[in-house]
Amino acid sequence: MNKENFNKWQEKFTNAAKRDSSFTTVSGLPINPLYTPADVANFDYEKDLGYPGEFPYTRGVQTTMYLGRLWTMRQFAGFATAKESNQRYKFLLSQGQTGLSVAFDMPTIMGYDSDHPRAYGEVGRVGVAIDSLQDMEILFDGIPLDKVSTSMTINAPASVIWSMYIATAEKQGVPSHKLTGTIQNDILKEYIAQKSWIFPPEPSMRLITDIFKFAKDHVPKWNTISISGYHIREAGSTAVQELAFTLADGFAYVEAGIAAGLDVDDFAPRLSFFFNAHLDFFEEIAKYRAARRIWARRMKEKYKAKDPRSWLLRFHTQTAGCSLTAQQPENNIIRTAYEALAAVLGGTQSLHTNSMDEVLALPTEKAVTIALRTQQIIAHEIGVTNTIDPLAGSYFVEALTNKMEEEAEKYFAKIEELGGVLKAIEKGFFQKEIADAAYEYQKAIDSKRRIVVGVNQYVDENEKLDIEILKIDPRIEQEQVARLQKLREERDNLRVQECLAELRKAANTSDNLIPYILNCVRCYSTLGEIIQVMRDEFGEYKEQPLF
Ligand code: 3HC
Repeated sequence: MNKENFNKWQEKFTNAAKRDSSFTTVSGLPINPLYTPADVANFDYEKDLGYPGEFPYTRGVQTTMYLGRLWTMRQFAGFATAKESNQRYKFLLSQGQTGLSVAFDMPTIMGYDSDHPRAYGEVGRVGVAIDSLQDMEILFDGIPLDKVSTSMTINAPASVIWSMYIATAEKQGVPSHKLTGTIQNDILKEYIAQKSWIFPPEPSMRLITDIFKFAKDHVPKWNTISISGYHIREAGSTAVQELAFTLADGFAYVEAGIAAGLDVDDFAPRLSFFFNAHLDFFEEIAKYRAARRIWARRMKEKYKAKDPRSWLLRFHTQTAGCSLTAQQPENNIIRTAYEALAAVLGGTQSLHTNSMDEVLALPTEKAVTIALRTQQIIAHEIGVTNTIDPLAGSYFVEALTNKMEEEAEKYFAKIEELGGVLKAIEKGFFQKEIADAAYEYQKAIDSKRRIVVGVNQYVDENEKLDIEILKIDPRIEQEQVARLQKLREERDNLRVQECLAELRKAANTSDNLIPYILNCVRCYSTLGEIIQVMRDEFGEYKEQPLF
């Protein structure tokens, strides 16, 4: 490249009039007006990119990527009781969805039964109410669990819900070694961002590594954790913070698995990730590509993983809920389409596309169908699945990928200085970084430095909401509670008490708790009863307030 010619152009550009806008990524990363070979001067194809399905996996985790298999179209869904959610899953599968993803209601997420006083008014509202194995059997009635992969978004009670899923499969005659799917099981991001924890860190990490161990021997095709950046981003982080904090959590889980006596290659191949697809198209693509490269290098070089499957960063993506607007909700279809395209060009393995109404309520059938069709149009109509990692080699994308990696490494060093992830959580480091970033983003919107169409510009003053909104019938709460109380009367309560007592005893040993939890769910102990035993024995986490 001729430096003189560039300097001549740069002078012309500098003197020319420009629009009044902040030319940064949505996270505030400054962006050059033009990228040239000079911005990737030390670019080494073999070292920095390599080939799809080969170390360092920058271009993708599979040799053939979408030419071999499209990403899984996996809409996050669940509401009301197991019956209504089962119907929605069957509808989505009939519309071409290729994986399941269960959203649970708040009582389930927090480990309370539907008839607990703290569940009042929340049963089945933001997800499906699951109290016992009976609900799980209804949830998957008519859905063969050896034929579909199921993701379950559950963290603190993950061990119980996962056990219910295994027991449901047993009832269908499906052995656990045939099961495929993912349990989110990521408690660190709960302390950092989503805040739906139950137990303190130590017992929480124990339950997580118990799942790693049990899966290794009994559920080998199961992804035992979905290390999530999604909620960190939704809490207001930048893309770099999402990347760095998520991978830092991943490293912490790897170290916890090793500390629990596992060889890294015994569990690392089944670690998975979950990222946000936010509005800044190129920043998101660079984020995913940098994530794969960082993870591969660390796993191979720092954690000495020998199995190439341990080096793979396989991830699910959900388009950014926080980018959706209540104003002009149809605009959300457009935002989601671009965000989904970024996830695909970034090499995602699985994808949820938000529905246009998800900023207002859980999605209607019509809205979720449009969201699923968005993925199908990207997959089949616009030509982006005919070649792998098509943006590779772009001066901008490669420079931005390098920049993301560089900025993430600075955070890794800072976290190490603080004594690691758990210490950084105790010090409120992540929480403060995210809060500061969220504040800057909101200030940019309030000052109109960042335009949100329909919200701070192109506003329709007389707008009337004219899309249908899903309403959850409040009567489903009484229905769920009545069924739960009937279950309690009909089950073998002697056996229930026996199993809960054995779990309580085991909680105070170093035994793997999954077999004990499995016995509890098999005799229809409820989620709340099982969690209460562990709450009694482990206590509850209390976050230190920060000012
Ligand atoms: N060539 C050959 N084989 C291929 C291939 C190719 N091109 N592409 C895929 N495959 C294989 C894979 O290797 C895999 O086989 P294996 O399990 O034996 O290795 C199989 O085909 C399935 O492919 P993937 O594993 O890539 O796809 P999945 O969809 O099964 O798994 C995942 C993807 C990311 C690894 C998994 O962890 C997953 O599905 N995660 C989903 C998590 C999720 O849905 N979370 C929702 C959370 S909602 C939330 O939290 C937000 C809310 O709180 C607001």
